[in-house]
Parts: sequence; C-alpha cells; structure tokens
Amino acid sequence: MNTKIIYFSKTGHSKKIAQRIAEDLKIDVLNAKDQPKLQDVDLLFVVGGIYGGKSDPKFLEYIDQIDEGAVKKAILMTSCTSNKSTQDQVRQKLEAKGITVFKDEFLCRGNFLIFGWGHPNKEDIQNAVDFAKEHYNSEAES
Ligand SMILES: Cc1cc2nc3c(=O)[nH]c(=O)nc-3n(C[C@H](O)[C@H](O)[C@H](O)COP(=O)(O)O)c2cc1C
Repeated sequence: MNTKIIYFSKTGHSKKIAQRIAEDLKIDVLNAKDQPKLQDVDLLFVVGGIYGGKSDPKFLEYIDQIDEGAVKKAILMTSCTSNKSTQDQVRQKLEAKGITVFKDEFLCRGNFLIFGWGHPNKEDIQNAVDFAKEHYNSEAES
C-alpha cells in the first residue's frame, strides 16, 4: 500500500504532527510548499491548520493541481485552536477529484496568541499518531 503524508503548516504544528506520524508508520512525509508530485498513492494523510476559519489558499492551490486518479483515498487531520474547525474546502476539492475522503476527521488542538496555550502537547500528538496508525492498519488489512 503506497501511503504518503502531506502537510501545510504556517506555525509548525501540522509539520510536527505529520513528522511524528511518518516516523511511526515509516512513510514519506511531504511538505505541500515543495509542490511534490503525487502518483499512485493508495492512502494520503492530509495534515493542515485552519486560519481565519479556512485552509490556507496556497494549500488549496496545491490540492487543485493533484492529478485525477493520482490518489485513491485520503484522511484529513486538522490542527486548530478551536478544536472544531475542519478542512472543508480541502475535503470538497479532493472529493471533486474522485478521491474517497474518510468521514472521520482528526482534530488536533493548536495554539494561537493566548488561545490553546501549550497545544499541541505530547498527548495531542500521541492521539494523532494513534488515529493515523489505526486507520493505516485497517486499510492495510482490507
Ligand atoms: C493567522 C492565524 C489565524 C488562525 N485562525 C484560526 C481560526 O479561525 N480557527 C481556529 O480554530 N484556529 C485558528 N488559528 C490557529 C491555528 O489553526 C493553529 O494554531 C494550528 O495549529 C496552526 O497550524 P500550523 O502550526 O500547522 O500552521 C489561527 C492561527 C493563525 C496563525
């Protein structure tokens, strides 16, 4: 199973989460800012932050240029202070390309100014790793 993890990070939280998952699952971690070309990916973890209630426009531009048929399934993992915001535009764009996006989206608390101080902490990151591992294992078995 060809599995990759891609992230877009402004302040480092999504990068940290993505790197820890990649280490644990022994998969490649890709930074969307490097514009990596995706091909023949069975499972793609998509890790990104929320800024003003939305995903960053540069991340959305990157998602736009993913070739149709290059990715089969995707799992969203989202970093935000509210612990409520989701990567809705990313989901819509991936689904419009025919990619199956898991309904289940992992939310990891981040921090911004005084909000969410100390997050993501060790436990938040471990929860993200556990979520990714569980989904990875069930996909590998199916
Ligand atoms: C400019 C800016 C705007 C933000 N707006 C929101 C927001 O609307 N809702 C929210 O829950 N978090 C918001 N946050 C918090 C980030 O989503 C959170 O810190 C996240 O972990 C950032 O991910 P990153 O470090 O990978 O960039 C904002 C952060 C920044 C820097």
